[in-house]
Amino acid sequence: MILLEGKTALITGAARGIGQAIAVRLAEAGADVAGCDLQVDWLDETRARVEALGRRFEGYAMDVGNAEQVGAAVDQVHTDFGQIDVLVNNAGITKDGLLARMSEADWDAVLDINLKGTFLCTKAVGRHMMKQRGGTIVNIASVIGLIGNAGQANYGASKAGVIAFTKSVAKELAGRNVRANAVAPGFIETAMTDALKEEVQQAMLNLIPLKTFGQPRDVADVVLFLASDLSGYVTGQVISVCGGMVTS
Ligand SMILES: NC(=O)c1ccc[n+]([C@@H]2O[C@H](COP(=O)([O-])OP(=O)(O)OC[C@H]3O[C@@H](n4cnc5c(N)ncnc54)[C@H](O)[C@@H]3O)[C@@H](O)[C@H]2O)c1
Repeated sequence: MILLEGKTALITGAARGIGQAIAVRLAEAGADVAGCDLQVDWLDETRARVEALGRRFEGYAMDVGNAEQVGAAVDQVHTDFGQIDVLVNNAGITKDGLLARMSEADWDAVLDINLKGTFLCTKAVGRHMMKQRGGTIVNIASVIGLIGNAGQANYGASKAGVIAFTKSVAKELAGRNVRANAVAPGFIETAMTDALKEEVQQAMLNLIPLKTFGQPRDVADVVLFLASDLSGYVTGQVISVCGGMVTS
C-alpha cells in the first residue's frame, strides 16, 4: 500500500536532521514535499533525496517565527501544489542554560520558534485543511516537554506548550476531519545533539533502556504513521520515540 500517494506534505526545518529524514520517509511513502527552512539553498540535499525517489519537491524560505513569512510561504505552497494534506511542524532550536543565567533573549528565541512557530504554521495551514475538510498535523515536541531537564527551562516549556497546543487543536479541528498529534523524540543523533559534551551524551545513554541513541529515521517512521490513514482514529495524542527513556 502506498500510504501517501497523491498527498502533499509541508515540512518545516526540512534542510537537515529529523526534518530531512521526515521529508525522505514521506516521499518514500508517495508524498510530494514542500520543504521549508530559513534559506532555500539549504534545502538542496533534501530536494535531491526526494527527487531521487521520483517525487516532487519545492523549497520555500520561511522563518517559522515570522507571521508574514509563514503566511506568504504557506499560500505559495497551496498555489503550487493545489492542496496541503500533511503539516509537520519540525523546525526547532535550543538555547540551553541554567535558569539563573538564562537571558530573556534566549527565552524569547526558543519560545518564538518552537511554540509560536508551531502556532503560526498550524493556523496558516489549518485554514486550508479546514476548507478541504481533511488533513493531518504532526508536531515535533520532545520528551523534555514531558519530564523537564535542568538547563532547558525554555526548551522544556516550549515543548510542553507544543503538546498542550496539539491536544487543543485536535479537539478544535476534529469536526473538520483534521487530526493533530505530537511526537516526542528522546535523544536522536543530529547536529542538535552532536553539539552536546561527550559526558552529557554518556549520561543520556545510561538513561535509555534500549541502550542506543535514536536515528532521525526512527522519528520519521512514527511521523509517517501519524500522517497516514494508518492512524485514522488517532488524534490529540503524544507518542514518545525515546528507546523507553520515558514511559508515561
Ligand atoms: N535531535 C534530538 O535529539 C531531538 C530530540 C527531541 C526533539 N527534537 C526536535 O526535533 C526537531 C528537529 O531537530 P533536529 O535535531 O533535526 O535539529 P537540527 O538543528 O538538526 O535541524 C533543525 C532544522 O530547523 C531549521 N530551523 C531552525 N530555526 C528555524 C526557523 N526559525 N524557521 C525555519 N526553520 C528553522 C534549521 O535550519 C534546521 O534545518 C526540533 O523541533 C527539535 O526540538 C530533536
